[in-house]
Amino acid sequence: MIDKNNIQDFENRFTSRTIKFSSVNAFPSIQVSNDFAQAEILLYGSHVLSFIPKGSRDVLWLSSKSKMTPGKAIRGGIPICWPWFGPLATPAHGIARILEWKLEDIYSEKDGSDTLMLSLDCSDSNGLRVQSKINVGAALSFSLSTENVGHEDYSLTSALHAYFSVSEIEKVQVKGLDKEPYFDKVANASGFNKGELCFHAETDAVFDQTQASVIIQDRDWKRSIRLEKSGSKSTVIWNPWIEKSKSMDDFPDQGYRNMICVEAANVGADARVLQPGEKHTLFARIVEE
Ligand code: BG6
Repeated sequence: MIDKNNIQDFENRFTSRTIKFSSVNAFPSIQVSNDFAQAEILLYGSHVLSFIPKGSRDVLWLSSKSKMTPGKAIRGGIPICWPWFGPLATPAHGIARILEWKLEDIYSEKDGSDTLMLSLDCSDSNGLRVQSKINVGAALSFSLSTENVGHEDYSLTSALHAYFSVSEIEKVQVKGLDKEPYFDKVANASGFNKGELCFHAETDAVFDQTQASVIIQDRDWKRSIRLEKSGSKSTVIWNPWIEKSKSMDDFPDQGYRNMICVEAANVGADARVLQPGEKHTLFARIVEE
């Protein structure tokens, strides 16, 4: 965990007008503020906590009750589910979101955006090597690259589990998943979606045959957020609604009203089997329109 010396080390290594180092509780944090946006990224989990395009409000939602404690997942921002998604093994959603990553590099691009490169040293993780590349510009771009450096095939499931901030969940529509098949984890049944998604109940849906961009349209805030992706044929949509919110100790009872998770993923039929030497990149780009 961080102490002043680490921050000093970072400041010496990565001098930049647009980057500041700080900490959130015990977690080292990188604050980016450039001509396009502000963002905060923790080394813990390579976790994007906030992304605020210039002149706008935060695109991401962060629970006021989130634990900021080593070993606990952060509730909000963009947790990385890796190298498994959900309860396939313990801990749920994998280890990447509860370990501290290493900052490899930060640099300014010619267009004035900033790029951060992080890696996770996890020798116990099934022979996998993982790196993240986060670019903060008018859009937030996130690449998660996994390489199998081991000797066995590995079936990778993962997600960029973005929590988007919304004015009021019942005034939000998610577009781009019309006519797509999905698995409804709440009903434990398969279905076909028709039209836009609207939210009036607990939602936990895995679309595992879609490469489409998704738009989160927010009537009250008069904003649309586009999520584009590549290396992903699955998208997960999650809102815990009333009872589940109450059952989570890191989630405000009314928190479900102001968030929606839309996750670029590799889950279900979209799990990626990596043979030794193979590499896969899951990419998402989030932009306010
Ligand atoms: C979603 C899953 O991606 O994450 C849900 O589809 C799950 O089933 C949710 O409840 C939150 O997971 P966690 O482990 O962060 O509480």
